[in-house]
Amino acid sequence: MGVLNPNKNLRTPLCDLLQCEYPILQAGMGGVARAELAAAVSEAGAYGYLGVAGESAERIAAEIEAVRARTERPFGINLVPAATDPALLDEELAACIECGVHSICFFWDVDRAAVERARAAGCRVLYQVGSVESALQAEAAGADAIIAQGVEAGGHVHGTLPTFVLLQQIGCAVSVPVVASGGIANGAGLVAAMALGGVGIHCGTAFLATREAFAHAYHKERIVAAVSGDTVHTDAFAIGWPPQSPVRVLHNSVTRALGDRLHGYGPDDHGREVIGDDAGEPVYRFSTESPLRTTNGELEVMALYAGEGAALIDSIPSAGDRVREMVTAAHDCLDGLRGR
Ligand SMILES: Cc1cc2nc3c(=O)[nH]c(=O)nc-3n(C[C@H](O)[C@H](O)[C@H](O)COP(=O)(O)O)c2cc1C
Repeated sequence: MGVLNPNKNLRTPLCDLLQCEYPILQAGMGGVARAELAAAVSEAGAYGYLGVAGESAERIAAEIEAVRARTERPFGINLVPAATDPALLDEELAACIECGVHSICFFWDVDRAAVERARAAGCRVLYQVGSVESALQAEAAGADAIIAQGVEAGGHVHGTLPTFVLLQQIGCAVSVPVVASGGIANGAGLVAAMALGGVGIHCGTAFLATREAFAHAYHKERIVAAVSGDTVHTDAFAIGWPPQSPVRVLHNSVTRALGDRLHGYGPDDHGREVIGDDAGEPVYRFSTESPLRTTNGELEVMALYAGEGAALIDSIPSAGDRVREMVTAAHDCLDGLRGR
């Protein structure tokens, strides 16, 4: 039976919504998830997102064109309304609509007007949230699916509950499909999410550690080297986002120097000490910018975003191979559960 349709057991309503083969979403990571990564992920049968929050309309249009030159498969755009100047958000949304984007994945506080505008233009909308309350707001605004982000997640973290607790709570509260996000790095995590009622997974760190990601090689290598307990939740990396926007990063000399005082910071609590540059622009100590291929300077003290699943990652394959290894592992996990 399985020979006729080897993907049968992994197909979920998320695949129908996003027209992808596997219910695996690559998170739209700012700076890191550019055309090369999103295209490679979608081309492999999963679903890629461009991480373009805070970018100009021209830049967004150019990235969309670059993905379309690499793959005919659908992909989406990630935007963060609460961390974007309203005038710029307006231009970003206009660019997405003008380009006819397939889906938008929004994050952080729910922006009802943004959801309604995208939906009115025929765009599918997913909203990544960190609480049941936000999930209900996103559903009421018209989101097609909710992404439940747990506290294990890498990058900015909006919630406080573990991924698999929040996934179930949101699953009980809303009637649209729910995707699990945070700390999931392999196919067994996908099966676990599906067992708990999730329709798929949304992964950042696992795709940051791939060849196509635009992250600096140092960041990728630090993720491969990470072991349990190497990530930390802090709001010290504050320059560039609203106050009290915590992140999960790999421990470094900055977080260690803070000791137990990891929370309670905002963008104005830090001076502006230049520790490097990215494509000619200064990078400050305590900035939310993570090191990219184009970044020079003191890489070790920058925000090295990583979810708790970093401890499960031990290689830097192509993004397509990362998708294939997740799918194979998910099938192996299902076979194991059946006692084969
Ligand atoms: C390097 C990095 C950058 C991120 N940037 C964004 C972003 O720009 N927009 C967004 O919605 N989420 C961003 N996130 C968070 C992801 O959407 C997602 O919640 C997270 O990666 C899931 O946890 P995981 O990293 O353990 O898979 C980022 C995550 C990482 C690791």
